[in-house]
Amino acid sequence: MKVKVRVPATSANIGPGFDSLGIAFNLYNIFEFTEKENGISFSGCAKKYQNEHNICYEAYKRVADAAGKNVGGLHISFSCNVPVARGLGSSAALIAAGAVAANEILDCHFSKLQLLNICAPMEGHADNLAPALLGGFTASMLHEGKVYTVKYRISERLHFCALIPDFEVKTATARSVLPQTYSRADAVYNLSHSAILIKALETGNIPLLIPALTDRLHQPYRESLIQDYDKAKEAAKLSGAPVFFISGSGSTCMCISDKDVSKLLRENLKELPNNWQVYPLSVDFRGASIIKHRKKFIK
Ligand code: HSE
Repeated sequence: MKVKVRVPATSANIGPGFDSLGIAFNLYNIFEFTEKENGISFSGCAKKYQNEHNICYEAYKRVADAAGKNVGGLHISFSCNVPVARGLGSSAALIAAGAVAANEILDCHFSKLQLLNICAPMEGHADNLAPALLGGFTASMLHEGKVYTVKYRISERLHFCALIPDFEVKTATARSVLPQTYSRADAVYNLSHSAILIKALETGNIPLLIPALTDRLHQPYRESLIQDYDKAKEAAKLSGAPVFFISGSGSTCMCISDKDVSKLLRENLKELPNNWQVYPLSVDFRGASIIKHRKKFIK
């Protein structure tokens, strides 16, 4: 059997919702999974990832193991548009693809929420994986070993734009600069801002999004990892996008406005080093999905 899977890019945290909130966007990776007699092989990804530790394959295997099925031989081909180590959920996209493909090919009949629970330990937080699998705007929590995820509405009036520089920020590095503990004041700050943020995103209330998207748990510590963060923020503001935040653990920054500001933003970012690319994005509401399915006789 051969299946083609499409998985959206995701932006995690959304300001104060550290390790919890996430949104799926219409920038996609496409994966093709083909059963074969034995062994695993890959195409379209760097040589160093062409082995059994490939996280797309690991997710495939995790789902197979959870269903008590044999993995068998498999070829995975990758066609990736989501840039790596830029805070747009490229790892979660690989995991979601492996999970959804195994579910289909091996007839596992897991729901997406079950797939999320099977694979969430691979990243340790479900803020990217939940929207990658389910689409839309999600909040996730880990409670007594189980992942709970809910979907929120998000206003169609909001225009999102990803600002992607040419340098990577590894999640491990971006987590290593965070404190181990926080004050009560910081915890209250983020809890209250997250609660208001959800309503502001639902209603498309830009004046409310500006304060609601600030946080004290991760962004203040990570800004210095993103070269020209302040200048990019200023360029977004000048272009008419007053809402600005770090996408996931960076390096991508995301801005929100009430109209498409991408053209102006490109102009205003042109002078900065690091070749900042501007991608106007819409919310993806489907999440990981099978886009082609072909039964194939294997000798
Ligand atoms: N919530 C994660 C972080 C997202 O900010 O570290 C990146 O995996």
